[in-house]
Amino acid sequence: MSVADADSRSIETAEASFRAERPHYADTGVLDELRRTDFARLDRGGHVYLDYTGGGLFASSQLREHMRLLESDVFGNPHSINPASAASTRLVERARDFVLEFFGGSPEEYVAIFTPNATGALRLVGEAYPFHAGDRFLLTFDNHNSVNGIREFARARGAHTTYVPSVAPELRVDPSLLPRYLTDTRGEHHNLLAFPAQSNFSGVQHPLEWIEHAHDHGWDVLLDAAAFVPTNRLELGLWHPDFVAVSFYKMFGWPTGVGCLLARRDALAKLQRPWFSGGTIVAAFVQRQYYQSAPGAAHFEDGTLNYLNLPAVEIGLRLLDRIGMETIHARVNTLGRWLLDVLDTLEHADGSPAATIYGPRSWERRGATIAFNFLHPDGRVVDERYVDRVAGEHNISLRTGCFCNPGAGEVAFTISRETLLGGEFGAGMSVDDYVREIGLPSGGAIRVSLGLASNFSDLHRFARFADEFRDLTNVPDDLPPRIVC
Ligand SMILES: Cc1ncc(COP(=O)(O)O)c(C=O)c1O
Repeated sequence: MSVADADSRSIETAEASFRAERPHYADTGVLDELRRTDFARLDRGGHVYLDYTGGGLFASSQLREHMRLLESDVFGNPHSINPASAASTRLVERARDFVLEFFGGSPEEYVAIFTPNATGALRLVGEAYPFHAGDRFLLTFDNHNSVNGIREFARARGAHTTYVPSVAPELRVDPSLLPRYLTDTRGEHHNLLAFPAQSNFSGVQHPLEWIEHAHDHGWDVLLDAAAFVPTNRLELGLWHPDFVAVSFYKMFGWPTGVGCLLARRDALAKLQRPWFSGGTIVAAFVQRQYYQSAPGAAHFEDGTLNYLNLPAVEIGLRLLDRIGMETIHARVNTLGRWLLDVLDTLEHADGSPAATIYGPRSWERRGATIAFNFLHPDGRVVDERYVDRVAGEHNISLRTGCFCNPGAGEVAFTISRETLLGGEFGAGMSVDDYVREIGLPSGGAIRVSLGLASNFSDLHRFARFADEFRDLTNVPDDLPPRIVC
């Protein structure tokens, strides 16, 4: 029997017992069928893809449908009224309506603004939120840098930024703590709270109930839903956040380059854009130096929309609807639990743990994104660059580093403010220089994340790969330098 035969037999046996113990997993069988057809390229190339929080994968049928649509007519720049332009406008507006419908946002309450990505949506809010001296910007430690960056807009305009800490080892916010921050507002000021519905670092799902509490205390709420919406349903009719940022490629892989800001109309009316551009105005004059803003979404969509790709957003959302978000959610939860258990029980021969998980070790209020590091038998962290190298040799795509979420990393690795201040991070320095200077035990973590095309065989291959780190005493010293975080 060849090694490949033995491998496939052992996967079959393991999968049979996985399925027998989890009969409800069969309810997600539509995704096995989709993996065989629309995601055949994964198995054809022998890939194990475990970076869905980085980027989702598209189904081949999405591309075919998109190309058929583009070939069916002539589409021009939508900033006009000629027939080719009108054809594009029709598709763009259809996509816009469908985005709102998908997220359950009523058109009376919400507007869907197309952006290049979630970062573009976050920036729109940050640069136009009417921060003034005395205003507050409150955000969780656990945030993507594209949310952290909003503090620079707040700072420039004299508003005060406060971070709500996460608490190790679960990396959640202490539930008794947030009310104290939310009640700390003064007078007639603007207050903006920003948090991720799901952490892109630890998979923690922060309570959406915060939205209503924050509203009760006079806060506007910016919900970063980029890591949440690929595998969870976000019902705007239920939660009513003021601003929501998403990137569509994270949900269904194609198209890249399109995201969305879903904004409540009354919250949108508060925003003051710092400039105008083509597409965002009814008219502008040179000699009068005056402009009149376009109404609604148009005022926030700079220049020409990605109009040929926008129809693919509707195609992707319809695919998710056909599969059912609940099916995708159930699938990644079942697989995720198994994966978490594999990492949580990985041991060296002497019984010491061979992995450490950053974030919840149970499957409560979390999504299928798991951050961890392998450990040597003496407890040292296995260099994540070595893990990346070995993963590559196995054709496994995972993520290493800090995932653009420094706050979650600082808590996970118990790095204090004093430690961070203990070293200069000067111009020309690399992350490696700084890690050495302040004496960190690790330069980052490993992240695996699941998505709609994940299956048991991916996890089984990952588990066999993880086994290779048991009783590993050292790593080679020729690892590439860490240039950025
Ligand atoms: C939670 C979260 N927010 C924001 C972003 C930024 O998304 P993008 O790079 O598509 O703008 C990401 C990307 O990984 C993310 O995970």
